Amino acid sequence: MTEPQTVTEAKPVKLPTLPDAQIVTDVTHWTDRLFSFRVTRPASLRFRSGEFVMIGLMGDPDPKTGKQKPLLRAYSIASPSWGEELEFYSIKVQDGPLTSKLQHIQPGDEIILRPKPVGTLVHDALLPGKRIWFFATGTGFAPFASLLRDPQTYEDYDEVIITHTCREAGELEYGRRLIEDLKSDEMMIELLGADNLAKIRYYPTTTRETSAKMGRITDLIRSGEVYADLGVEPIHPESDRAMICGNLAFNLELKAMLEEYGLEEGANSNPRHYVVEKAFLD
Ligand code: A2P
Repeated sequence: MTEPQTVTEAKPVKLPTLPDAQIVTDVTHWTDRLFSFRVTRPASLRFRSGEFVMIGLMGDPDPKTGKQKPLLRAYSIASPSWGEELEFYSIKVQDGPLTSKLQHIQPGDEIILRPKPVGTLVHDALLPGKRIWFFATGTGFAPFASLLRDPQTYEDYDEVIITHTCREAGELEYGRRLIEDLKSDEMMIELLGADNLAKIRYYPTTTRETSAKMGRITDLIRSGEVYADLGVEPIHPESDRAMICGNLAFNLELKAMLEEYGLEEGANSNPRHYVVEKAFLD
């Protein structure tokens, strides 16, 4: 496995010139398809862990008028609500209108960030429970990177199970590293508590490359393998809460499975047993 390449940690010096501009402070390339980056946080921005914002760059000039319009996409904030900077985790699509350009950002560059956070993957949308499942595929890990660093996750639940299914092992690296750092970083241990961090059960799987655990999480639930591997009881509406974030087919399939278990979909205005959000791909 190749080491992720952090471009630099240099502090930016440029002043913002775009409306809603923030400055890129750090970029890490995880694979040829995935990268994460951090930007400055607007002083006025408050958000709940798990929410997303619109971010982007100026588009190409219109060939007729020469005018440029912002090119924006919804991105889950991967950093926790208490973080000084904002972190994002993104796919690189070579012909994607935004990510074909965004993948080239460097520390000191500007991006546009509309400071209006929204989203359903928030604790407020769930009823109290004993156990929370975070189900992710690909870059759908991002909101959970935020929620796993939020003290409320551990105040609300006795057990925190995070599953992450990717095609290849290298695509698990961002999440694996984050969880490893969470459990070993002194600041995190002090903030979240060693007992709370011990509540995390991490269940990574791959579907197209050999790894310690192979298969789609949906199939592993159906077969009961995930319960056997973790030594836990099957999902039940009385005890379990869930958040889903991944590609569309995965979201729909898992949603249907949770409904079969008797879980109901919640919202900010009507907290229930599970919530779902699509990963925002270019
Ligand atoms: P698979 O390789 O079997 O398609 P993608 O990179 O296309 O967004 O997919 C991310 C991961 O989500 C892949 O491991 C993929 O498995 C898996 N996946 C895709 N569709 C589903 C689904 N309906 N249920 C469960 N996992 C899925």
